[in-house]
Amino acid sequence: MENLQELFDKAVKVSENSYAPYSNFHVGAAVLYNDGSIETGVNVENRSYGLTNCAERSALFSAVSKGKKDFKAVAIYCKDADYPVPPCGACRQVLSEFMDKKALVYFAGKDKKFKKYLMEEIYPLDALHELRS
Ligand code: THU
Repeated sequence: MENLQELFDKAVKVSENSYAPYSNFHVGAAVLYNDGSIETGVNVENRSYGLTNCAERSALFSAVSKGKKDFKAVAIYCKDADYPVPPCGACRQVLSEFMDKKALVYFAGKDKKFKKYLMEEIYPLDALHELRS
């Protein structure tokens, strides 16, 4: 896929802006629109821990705020993990709202070796998929 290295680079770069003073788990995410452009986001924690927003949801919400709704790939990077960090359950549900079953989900830990999955692999038995607009 074209733009893939750029997608990874942007996820890595934006992770520097992560606000994660509680977990020290600094995460960056980049979503690739169907038109080839890219939006990024980071995890934003809060001293009321449950209010934390994950990086991939930040990226998606930012993109939707700019009028973009269709994504073909997402890349997630965490420099503080020795293993590739997949999206949490809540993020899989939110990603599934805007990404088709065959959309690509990449994630990596500090070694930047991005693993590749299909959306349908990380979020099987997708409930109420047909209710999406
Ligand atoms: N986190 C993300 O931003 N994305 C993921 O895919 C996994 C977890 C964040 C949430 C929290 O700020 C920190 O990582 C530890 O869970």
